[in-house]
Amino acid sequence: MKTLLDTYKRLDLKNRVVMAPMTRSRATKNHIPTDIMATYYAQRASAGLIITEGTSPSPNGVGYARIPGIYTDEQAKAWKVVADEVHKNGGKIFMQLMHSGRLAHPENMPKGSRILAPSSIAPTHTKMYVDDKGMLEIPVPEEMTMEDINLEISNYVSASKRAIEVGFDGVELHGANGYLLDSFLSPHTNKRHDFYGGSIENRLRFPLAVVKKVSEAIGKDKVGIRISPNGTLGDMEPFDEQFETFSHFLEKLNELEIAYIHLLDLESFGQTAVPQNIRNMVREKFQGTLILSGGYSQNTGEEALKNNEGDLIAYGRPFIANPDLIDRWENESPLSEANPDFFYTPGEKGYTDYQTA
Ligand SMILES: Cc1cc2nc3c(=O)[nH]c(=O)nc-3n(C[C@H](O)[C@H](O)[C@H](O)COP(=O)(O)O)c2cc1C
Repeated sequence: MKTLLDTYKRLDLKNRVVMAPMTRSRATKNHIPTDIMATYYAQRASAGLIITEGTSPSPNGVGYARIPGIYTDEQAKAWKVVADEVHKNGGKIFMQLMHSGRLAHPENMPKGSRILAPSSIAPTHTKMYVDDKGMLEIPVPEEMTMEDINLEISNYVSASKRAIEVGFDGVELHGANGYLLDSFLSPHTNKRHDFYGGSIENRLRFPLAVVKKVSEAIGKDKVGIRISPNGTLGDMEPFDEQFETFSHFLEKLNELEIAYIHLLDLESFGQTAVPQNIRNMVREKFQGTLILSGGYSQNTGEEALKNNEGDLIAYGRPFIANPDLIDRWENESPLSEANPDFFYTPGEKGYTDYQTA
């Protein structure tokens, strides 16, 4: 019988517990990783696999304050320290590549960068935090030209190569929560009339091109993708053809033989759940590894593995407050609660100062 603490041979992991990607906003204002980030990830290296916070492959994708990028050599060099520290502590680490797309504020971004999206539609229900200014309206994004599309595909490829060069074990493409890849999938955010919008095939074209090119560049066994079907975070809404859209997407992802699908369900955050028929479809269509995330406890994670709903379980908030989550489960020690006041604040408080049991 499978358990969370068993090894997972397919990806060569020491257990089936994944640390979910979490934006913690501890990079510099210029989006360069800091030393405390290396400490934070190293503290959590007992996870079978760590997936980093969303990291932008492009200057156009750093829409949030103090999130890291990997589009310059300086950023890559700082990330090397993170990968090295995690490996020194016996862990494995994938980098999540998150291009924020239309969920961005120009004041968080470098000079000369642009807010890009499939169509010029602003997210009207979401505001964006800017340091010293608070929550601000998000401006209307620019509709990507063919040139923009090709440039961002090549930015994903360069970023992935950089991540591997500095020692990451792979990359996870953020295809969830309304960011650039996800915004191409939905007809609410993608109203293009060209090759990249309209039909299901066309809406999938850009995300699939990114997956394919990145796989060719670094190896399909080093690529995963996160998806959030039916999700409402990031100003997204469920849409009529979503089952067919994701079904086609999963077929293609399966053909590309990437390492994993990371299925995110944010019902535990008060959002809409992933419908059961989509969960079943993902499990049936994709032959590779399936990671599940969203509100799991140790018990419900064990249950999901036992029922073969997924292969690995990703934990977010439990890892914030319990750097030694694995030990605590092994020793049946009680868990600490994460303090949301410090989720996105600069500095060590509420970040690297959570104690081991
Ligand atoms: C502070 C915080 C930041 C997050 N940032 C990201 C992110 O950068 N990328 C992402 O895909 N998900 C992000 N998430 C979602 C988590 O990866 C995870 O799926 C979610 O917290 C549900 O898991 P949990 O119930 O175990 O916390 C974030 C969640 C939290 C709490």
